[in-house]
Amino acid sequence: MKAIVYTQYGSPEVLKLKDVEKPIPKHNEILIRIRATAVNSGDVRLRKADPFAVRLFFGLFKPKTNILGSVFSGEIESIGSGVQRFKVGDEVFGHTDMSFGTYAAYKCFPENGSIALKPTTISHQEAAVIPFGGTTALHFLKKASIQKGQKVLVFGASGAVGTAAVQLAKHFGAIVTGVCSTTNVDLVKSLGADKVIDYTKEDFTKNGETYDVIFDTVNKMSISDSLQTLKIYGILILSAAGFSEMVQGTWASITNSNKIKVLTGMIRHSAEDINFLKTLIDAGQLKSVIDRTYSLEQMAEAHAYVEKGHKKGNIAIEIH
Ligand SMILES: NC(=O)c1ccc[n+]([C@@H]2O[C@H](COP(=O)([O-])OP(=O)(O)OC[C@H]3O[C@@H](n4cnc5c(N)ncnc54)[C@H](OP(=O)(O)O)[C@@H]3O)[C@@H](O)[C@H]2O)c1
Repeated sequence: MKAIVYTQYGSPEVLKLKDVEKPIPKHNEILIRIRATAVNSGDVRLRKADPFAVRLFFGLFKPKTNILGSVFSGEIESIGSGVQRFKVGDEVFGHTDMSFGTYAAYKCFPENGSIALKPTTISHQEAAVIPFGGTTALHFLKKASIQKGQKVLVFGASGAVGTAAVQLAKHFGAIVTGVCSTTNVDLVKSLGADKVIDYTKEDFTKNGETYDVIFDTVNKMSISDSLQTLKIYGILILSAAGFSEMVQGTWASITNSNKIKVLTGMIRHSAEDINFLKTLIDAGQLKSVIDRTYSLEQMAEAHAYVEKGHKKGNIAIEIH
């Protein structure tokens, strides 16, 4: 089968199209013919080994996992003898978590992983781009116990996590302010944000507004300024935090007189979460935002674009 393989960390050119062995499903596994995947910010971090800590988990000198890609949409081609949840021919979408491997025509997956039947009203590309931002936004909004009527600010509202966070926060009944640059104001409004702040024209920490939840999806805002903009008992979500922001956030949680809480760390997800996202898509409450679509063969080009850090929503990859 064809796959995009990388055997060393580096620039997008380390991603090479190769023929590799097609996997065979084990007892409890399904074999998915992948029709679409996405290039996410996480894939770029792994390709570059940036931050350095990536090497501690994924290979000190060279990557131990040679096929990137953590989301997919496709159909089940065959199943192991013990599989009960799915049958051959089912169209499914989901998230591989840390096993990766979706930059390929096929991938085996345990049937109890983060997968669900694909919504019938959307394409494979539209389905494939949902799980990365969707599970991240859902994980943190659930952890924040978001309540109807709360004021939520999403910083980086036009990215993969941000576009999902705006829509999910609206679903949970929040009053949502999105922060993005000028070119993305209309996009963020179209996702249901009640207010949009253009960060090139206005600093949200200086306009006197305060929020119950501030969700920083891109790690580009000042933690101390944001803390001043939270209400008492407010929650600061730092989903893209590096080590130093995690330490700063934890310290702030302990010492801040306003009793604020800071949420960071790696997300977790399950089949239940993917099913939940599917129900929102079916109900018309969650839309896929696709900036560009590339073919598998154009993977290096797609990575170079994502690395610029200004994609609108997601980058889909179609696999023929
Ligand atoms: N905790 C976890 O387990 C977890 C899970 C998933 C993702 N993440 C992390 O979350 C981060 C975001 O992921 P993503 O995929 O959503 O990123 P993305 O799609 O690349 O989002 C980029 C967004 O950031 C905005 N941006 C760029 N520079 C900015 C600046 N200086 N000020 C304000 N906004 C700026 C851009 O908007 P404009 O073009 O309008 O500037 C763009 O829409 C990544 O670092 C990823 O590693 C963490």
